Amino acid sequence: MKIAFFDAKDYDIPAFERYGKENGIEFKYYETKLGADTVGLARGFDGVCVFVNDDVSAPVVDGLFEEGVKYIALRCAGYNNVDVKRCFGKIHVVRVPAYSPYAVAEHTMAMLLTSVRRIHKAYNRTREFNFSLNGLTGFDLHGKTVGVIGTGKIGSIFIDICKGFGMNVLAYDKFPRQDAAFPYVPLDEIFAKSDVISLHLPLFEDTYHLINHDTLKKLKKGVILLNTSRGALIDAEALLEGIKQRIIGAACLDVYEEESELFFEDYSGHIIEDDTLARLLSMPNVIVTSHQAFLTEEALANIAETTVQNLVLCREGKACPNELCYDCGNMENCKKKRKERCF
Ligand code: NAI
Repeated sequence: MKIAFFDAKDYDIPAFERYGKENGIEFKYYETKLGADTVGLARGFDGVCVFVNDDVSAPVVDGLFEEGVKYIALRCAGYNNVDVKRCFGKIHVVRVPAYSPYAVAEHTMAMLLTSVRRIHKAYNRTREFNFSLNGLTGFDLHGKTVGVIGTGKIGSIFIDICKGFGMNVLAYDKFPRQDAAFPYVPLDEIFAKSDVISLHLPLFEDTYHLINHDTLKKLKKGVILLNTSRGALIDAEALLEGIKQRIIGAACLDVYEEESELFFEDYSGHIIEDDTLARLLSMPNVIVTSHQAFLTEEALANIAETTVQNLVLCREGKACPNELCYDCGNMENCKKKRKERCF
């Protein structure tokens, strides 16, 4: 089985080589992202392996199909960049639903603590022998209210971590957990009462710009906003406005609405065209990491192992629990009525 691997980074390759060799899967690594201009590189391959910022929109799906590609293996959980509807009947789509929810939840708390205790400022100061404490006053997380939106795998672990800090948890989810040991409240109550809000839900049409100019008005003054899910959950222009109006006290972003052209690359010697991002980065109360939350050794090994397992099941024509299906209406838990496959 031959797979064209797009948007390859040095840290991806060792684990994929190891699991690929063990299972008879040959990867060809392309640094470029998959998109309309690069779809031709998939010619002659059984499948493509893609990540969060590859473009797998309808024209690209059609292009892949024309090139004879049978499988799209997402090496991530989110699939908002794939037109799964267009794939139905043409190309099987598999993903890695969880690789290390701990990695993302722990990174979220790392960003919160960095922001609240001004660690990023202190780090720079002490390296220059500036031992002044002026401007570094933080606040206790203990006793503060954290609103967690999305209580799936990552959100639930983040809630456990917050409880360990003695925070009061309020949660919102479209599909609440039955076994939850924390209260679910309406979204507006989260907005009104939370000192910290953390987003742990997928990007869908109904979650696009969940934080926008209207919701801004409902937030508690000084709230800290955490987003380690998907950039477009937040309207970046509204966020900027909220910071300028002092409604948002701090923002910790591992994802950004327009990240696809920037994140994962080194642009340190370049002029950045994105004025919104540049302005956000200039704010003393904004911390940005470039979609790094998943990046632990454990997660990289799990991503490679699960992706290879998914492809092995595809090759053998067997049911794959991680296949995404448009047709049966149950995208993530396809009933696979047709010969145990989506189609
Ligand atoms: P999950 O599927 O376990 O949980 C998502 C939760 O969101 C579910 O409980 C679901 O019911 C809820 N949800 C769905 N639609 C909703 C809506 N309209 N309103 C409120 N809640 C809704 O997913 P998991 O593994 O916890 O991941 C969460 C997100 O984290 C992913 O969708 C992905 O975008 C992001 N992620 C980011 C990574 C990073 O490196 N920054 C790495 C992995 C995931």
